[in-house]
Amino acid sequence: MLWGGRFTQGLDPLMVQYNESLPYDRIFWSQDIAGSIAFARANAKSGILTAHEFSEIERGFRQIAEEWRTNTFVVKPNDEDIHTANERRLGEIIGKEIGGKLHTGRSRNEQIATDMRLWLRDELRKIDGFLSDLIKVSIARAERDIDYLMPGYTHLQKAQPVRWSHWVLSHATAFASELQRLRETIKRVNRSPLGTGALAGNPFHIDREQMARELGFDGLLYNSMNAVADRDFAMETMQWGSSFMLKISRWAEDLIIYSSLEFGFVRLSDAYSTGSSLMPQKKNADSLELLRGKSGRAFGQMAGLMCTIKGLPTTYNKDLQESVEPLLDHIKTVSDSIQIATGVLSTLTVIPEKMVAALAPEMLATEFADYLVRKGVPFREGHHISGRVVALAEQHNVPMDKLSLEQLKGVDARFDDDVLECLDYERAVELKDAIGGCSKRAVLEQVAVLKSLL
Ligand code: ARG
Repeated sequence: MLWGGRFTQGLDPLMVQYNESLPYDRIFWSQDIAGSIAFARANAKSGILTAHEFSEIERGFRQIAEEWRTNTFVVKPNDEDIHTANERRLGEIIGKEIGGKLHTGRSRNEQIATDMRLWLRDELRKIDGFLSDLIKVSIARAERDIDYLMPGYTHLQKAQPVRWSHWVLSHATAFASELQRLRETIKRVNRSPLGTGALAGNPFHIDREQMARELGFDGLLYNSMNAVADRDFAMETMQWGSSFMLKISRWAEDLIIYSSLEFGFVRLSDAYSTGSSLMPQKKNADSLELLRGKSGRAFGQMAGLMCTIKGLPTTYNKDLQESVEPLLDHIKTVSDSIQIATGVLSTLTVIPEKMVAALAPEMLATEFADYLVRKGVPFREGHHISGRVVALAEQHNVPMDKLSLEQLKGVDARFDDDVLECLDYERAVELKDAIGGCSKRAVLEQVAVLKSLL
C-alpha cells in the first residue's frame, strides 16, 4: 500500500475491487516503466538520486519489464493500479531504501496521464497505418473497376449514372479527411504531463524537457493543474473515432443495400459473411452490420466520458480513472473496424452486369435538358421540356428509351436526330468531366489527389 500512513482501518473488500484499476491498466506496464526510468534519470540529473541509485532503479525496472513480458509478474492484493504494482515490485527487487526514492516529487496523477498518452500515441500511429491501408485498397479498387457504371442515388432513388469507382472514392475521400484529423489529434495526444506533480508542479527542478525527449513526446503541457486534469486527449480521440465510425457505418450501410439480392451489385466474400442457423439459403453481411452497429457503441463511449468529466472540480478526481476502460475499448473497436472494412473491400466481388441492369433510362432525363441547354435553351425551360418527355413515356407506359425520334421531336422541335445520344449511359457519365465528377479522367484525377495525401 502506497498511502497507508494515515489510515488505521483496511478497505472494505468490495471497495478494493471497486477502486482497483490494475485489471485493465496493466496494459500500460511498459509505458509506466519507461516513464519511471525517465523520471529517475531526470531526478539523478538534478541530484535527487545518486548515479548508483539510478542504475539500481533502472536494473529493477528491467527485471520488472521482463516479468511482465514473460507473464511471470505476480500481482499482490494491495496492487491497486499499474503504478502501485510496479513500485511495490521495485522495492522488492532493489530494496525499499533506494526503491522508496523513486516517487520523489511524483504523483500517480501525472503518471496515469503520461502512461495513457504514450500508449494512445502508439495505438493511433498503428491506426494511421490501418486507415492508410483502407484508403489504398479503395484506390486500388477504383482503378481496377474503373469501367463499371452503376446507378447513383439520392433519397435512395435512382438519380444519375455514375462510375462504381466514383462511389468507392466518395467514401475514400471521407476516410482521407479522417486521416488528416487523426494526424492532428496525434500531435495533441503526444504531449508530456510528466513532471507536474499531483497538481502544483515539481519542487526539485526536474528537467521536463529532457523527460519528454526521452519518451518521444512532441512537447509539454504547460500548466501543471491542467496537465493532471486534462483528458482532452481521450475525448478528442473518441470524438475522432466517433466521426470515423459514422463514416464507416454509412459505407457499410451502402454495401448492405448493394449486396442484397434485390440489388446484387456486389457479393461479399465468405470470409466476411455468416449463415443462418435456420434458413440454409442465407448469407448475411454480418461484418457490415457489425461495422454499423459498433458505431453506436463508439459514440456512447465518447458521450459517456464527456458526461463523466463535465462537472468535475479542477485537477485530479478519481472519476478520471473512468476514462481508461472506454478508451481501451474504443481504440480496439475503431482499430478492428478499419481492418475489417479493408478486408471486406479487398475481397468483395463486383457484379457489373447487375449494376448496368439497374440503370434506368429515366436517369438520363437530365441529359435531355442539358442537350437543349447546348442548343441555347435556358435550363429551366429545358428541364420543363425534359419533364414532358418523361410524362410522355409514362403516358405510353414505356421506358423513355422506347420513345421514337418522332415522338421526341413532337415534344419540342429543337430535338434533332442526334438527341438519341442522350440515351447513352457512358456518354452521360463522361460528360461529368469537371474536377470531382464521374468521368474516367475526373475519377483518375481523384485517385491521384488521394495518393498524394497518403
Ligand atoms: N489509477 C488511477 C487512475 O487511473 C491513477 C491515479 C491515482 N491518483 C490518485 N490520486 N488516487 O486515474
